[in-house]
Amino acid sequence: MKAYELRELIGPEGLTLNSQRPEPQPSAGEVLIRVRAASLNYRDISVSFGRYPGTIKTSVIPLSDGAGEIVRVGPGVPETRLGERVVTAFYPYWIAGAISETVTDPALGGSLDGVLAELITLPASAAIPIPEHLSFEEAATLPSAALTAWQAIVEVGKVRAGDVVLTLGTGGVSLFALQLAKLHNATVIVTSGSQAKLERVRALGADHVLNYRTTPEWDTEVLQLTQGRGVDVIVEVGGPGTLERSLRCVRKGGTIVFIGRLAGTCLIDPLPIMRRAVRVIGINVGSHEMFAAMNRALAASRLRPVIDRSFDFSEARAAYDYFQSGVAFGKVVITV
Ligand SMILES: NC(=O)c1ccc[n+]([C@@H]2O[C@H](COP(=O)([O-])OP(=O)(O)OC[C@H]3O[C@@H](n4cnc5c(N)ncnc54)[C@H](OP(=O)(O)O)[C@@H]3O)[C@@H](O)[C@H]2O)c1
Repeated sequence: MKAYELRELIGPEGLTLNSQRPEPQPSAGEVLIRVRAASLNYRDISVSFGRYPGTIKTSVIPLSDGAGEIVRVGPGVPETRLGERVVTAFYPYWIAGAISETVTDPALGGSLDGVLAELITLPASAAIPIPEHLSFEEAATLPSAALTAWQAIVEVGKVRAGDVVLTLGTGGVSLFALQLAKLHNATVIVTSGSQAKLERVRALGADHVLNYRTTPEWDTEVLQLTQGRGVDVIVEVGGPGTLERSLRCVRKGGTIVFIGRLAGTCLIDPLPIMRRAVRVIGINVGSHEMFAAMNRALAASRLRPVIDRSFDFSEARAAYDYFQSGVAFGKVVITV
């Protein structure tokens, strides 16, 4: 079968197509999936450059997020699953319950082989049924970006109608956070460095938009928009470069869900965490149980992911380059 391998951690240039990789065989409790689509996340760029803080398997098959159909089942897996349309779980062993290193150390496209291949094996429980209204391309955008946003907005943020949510930037996680917050009838404020992208988030339901380049003191604007109260939940993907401002515009007793570090390096004054009784909580993607809950919400609401562009399997490097350029609005997909 064909699969891409990251032979060198030098960026997308390190992607090598292996056309003669042996087909994987499903062991007991596993399924064999014919991959139809995969999608890119910020993490995949970090992995390709060897900058990802977790373990990276030697010559790893990259990408964590894929969708396809079950074409064979291993011993112990019901044959009724044959032909099922499924999407991959980022953490194949985090089925439900509390997070631990045991369940998050093994992760697709990092410490384990990922999905940029024609065929992959997964534990049967990590092959999550796709909501009926979604295509393989759309489903392939869910495992990391959507589930992280779901955990932030629903599981941790417990967003309710009338809450005010702030999402930073218009990357994969943030766009899903906007869509899911609107699904829960929140008021959503979105920042972006691009005026064109701000126009597009308005069409997705953003109530207020702020350009963090032309309005570098966006925290002051957020306080004004909320009549000095601050926002209930912040989807914090910027990290060192944005956290200090997030701490200034979250409401007293509000929640900052710490997800990523897209921007900057700086020392942060932690005092506002205590003075404003802020709950700062780090999250890691999500469990299969959370994934199933999110899929029920997607099915009920018919919510669809935003896809910017699809690339063919043969154009994987071009897909990486395009994603890295930062021009995309929505997910970048590779069809297999
Ligand atoms: N903890 C977890 O489980 C988890 C899961 C998924 C992702 N992450 C992390 O979350 C972050 C986002 O991932 P992603 O895949 O959504 O990234 P992405 O799709 O590559 O998003 C990049 C976007 O970030 C925005 N951005 C860059 N600098 C910014 C700044 N100073 N302020 C506000 N926005 C800024 C830009 O938006 P504009 O173009 O609109 O300016 C850019 O388009 C990454 O750090 C990733 O590693 C963590």
